[in-house]
Amino acid sequence: MRKEQKIYSIIACILSVVLFFGAYLYWDNNTIEVSEYVYQNDKIPESFDSVRILQISDLESKEFGEGNSYLLEKCIEAKPDYIFITGDLLGSSDTDTTVALNLIKGLSSNLSSEIYYVHGNHEMLLDDNALATFEAALTQFGVHILDGEYQKIYRGGDCVNILGFQDVSWYSREYGFHYYRDYADTDEYFEFVWERLARQTGDDFTMLLSHHCECFNIYKRFDVDLIFSGHAHGGIVRLPFNNALFAPEQGFFPEYFAGRYESNGRTMFVSRGLGMTNGVLRVFNRANLNLIVLKK
Ligand SMILES: [Fe+2]
Repeated sequence: MRKEQKIYSIIACILSVVLFFGAYLYWDNNTIEVSEYVYQNDKIPESFDSVRILQISDLESKEFGEGNSYLLEKCIEAKPDYIFITGDLLGSSDTDTTVALNLIKGLSSNLSSEIYYVHGNHEMLLDDNALATFEAALTQFGVHILDGEYQKIYRGGDCVNILGFQDVSWYSREYGFHYYRDYADTDEYFEFVWERLARQTGDDFTMLLSHHCECFNIYKRFDVDLIFSGHAHGGIVRLPFNNALFAPEQGFFPEYFAGRYESNGRTMFVSRGLGMTNGVLRVFNRANLNLIVLKK
């Protein structure tokens, strides 16, 4: 083979690899994987047996198809009884809530599922007026915004508890804490939140929604059974042997980033989320919805 031919062959190989990887990245970042789990607990009452909970997290104002039609289709296909949204519907610098509210509108008009919601750190970047307007719009679509109080979900004569923490940074905003990183994993944060929460009574099955998965050590100390969380974006780049490259607040090689975690009789499901802010690309880490089926 002549020298020029060799060079052309090498260039063609490199271009093929680049094109293939580019196409793969597009697929990785624009298709949604529904991860289905079965969660069993003897405390789950009869009427909640086989209940389907769809977890949506970290949309960050991303659109999958026009008007988020592809995302809506995936949500409808999952046939959820309840939808839990674990924060960051908005991107980190969003003041425009259109994409987020269009999704909620689509969910509430196409599904009869009750929707429970907690803020993430991105919603905390809205000013007070914008946050109040956003909350009012969510409420108008029937979304239950959880704000640190235990609530009851009733079904067929049975009930379970649901609790949602505001984003850790909300407590800092309301009560003059320093930035939440100082508090996320400390006794002081636990005691601060605990002092302000309605105390649970009885031993009903209890679920917790909270945006920051890195606070699992704190959540475990509350009287909750099943925790739903996000914020880690699946570790952004997935590595071999079930590792991940990076998650906010946890840094490189995070402990919590996706899937199911068990400790101390508590189970936490972490969503890999749907969107990414600032043009960061996910690698080997598809956008994700978690679907958890409860079993008694
Ligand atoms: Fe977040």
